Amino acid sequence: MLPDGLVPFLRTLATTDPFDPLTALRTAISFTAERSGFRSWLDISPDQLYDNAMQLSAQTPVLLAALYRLHYGHEPVAPDPELSAAANYLYMLSGQRPDQQHAWALERYLISTIDHGFNSSTFTARVIASTGADLGAAVTGAIGALSGPLHGGAPSRVLDMLDDIGRPELAEAWVRSAVGRGDKIMGFGHRVYKGKDPRSALLREVATTVGGSTAEFAVAVEDVIVRVLAEAKPGRALNANVEFYAGVVMDACGIPREAFTPTFASSRVIGWCTHVLEQVAGNRLIRPSARYDGQAPPVPVPAGD
Ligand SMILES: CC(C)(COP(=O)(O)OP(=O)(O)OC[C@H]1O[C@@H](n2cnc3c(N)ncnc32)[C@H](O)[C@@H]1OP(=O)(O)O)[C@@H](O)C(=O)NCCC(=O)NCCS
Repeated sequence: MLPDGLVPFLRTLATTDPFDPLTALRTAISFTAERSGFRSWLDISPDQLYDNAMQLSAQTPVLLAALYRLHYGHEPVAPDPELSAAANYLYMLSGQRPDQQHAWALERYLISTIDHGFNSSTFTARVIASTGADLGAAVTGAIGALSGPLHGGAPSRVLDMLDDIGRPELAEAWVRSAVGRGDKIMGFGHRVYKGKDPRSALLREVATTVGGSTAEFAVAVEDVIVRVLAEAKPGRALNANVEFYAGVVMDACGIPREAFTPTFASSRVIGWCTHVLEQVAGNRLIRPSARYDGQAPPVPVPAGD
């Protein structure tokens, strides 16, 4: 449930122009943590930190759905304890009991994105937690890292790309021209997977179950992109990543395009929180060193003792 007295603040965030849902969510989480009395984990017990993690993991989708409804002039819908997490999210967004197949599809998407090693946002959360900061600060910073298109901002851009391509027979020319300009094709390539991203294979199956003609089109475009990238970037093994079918799945479930990355955040928050708990359990300040290769100093630097 939302903390008491939060709705007026969410209403302000949701009706501010322009409305960027991820920025609004980031601000709402920061405020919620402050209102809920989150403190440095150095000053609270492990059980209290665990409670903070459970609270924020559960409240993030509730905050997001409330922001959405308020933005479109509707009152927030409280979660229904009878529904699963995925079904509840769809219910809180639309106010309608979701179709079972949509809840099934969204659940698979949420599970596939819940955690993924030391990706940029998780690393950000761990760096912040390593300073002794409170859990709200770690999650707020993680959302900042997730907002970039190279990390979490790709799924809506994938659907924009599919719209732009329009028809399967136009895909090849579109992709060749984008690669020729040096553009990154959204939903392809990965820092870790240099073969196939297994999450993409899983979501492709889900997409073809619920995504109808959009999914069929995406499958055809994927084949073209893989072929053109293999030619343009030989030896790079650029394949579809988790984001390519994520947009198709969320779109089929009725989630608005601008809510794709925030929906990703509402699942990944669980990964961020568990990483914070792990970091704290054996903490050492994360502080990389850097090698300076600029100009020599104008005066000699005094030698240390
Ligand atoms: C995810 C991503 C940032 C990984 O980047 P990376 O590990 O640094 O990959 P690199 O930049 O080393 O890529 C190697 C080569 O493939 C190219 N490449 C990588 N991803 C590409 C893409 N999606 N489209 C076109 N070319 C791509 C790079 O330009 C580079 O080419 P070069 O060797 O001629 O310079 C990158 O693949 C990307 O921007 N993808 C699109 C955004 C996206 O889908 N993000 C979601 C990730 S889950």
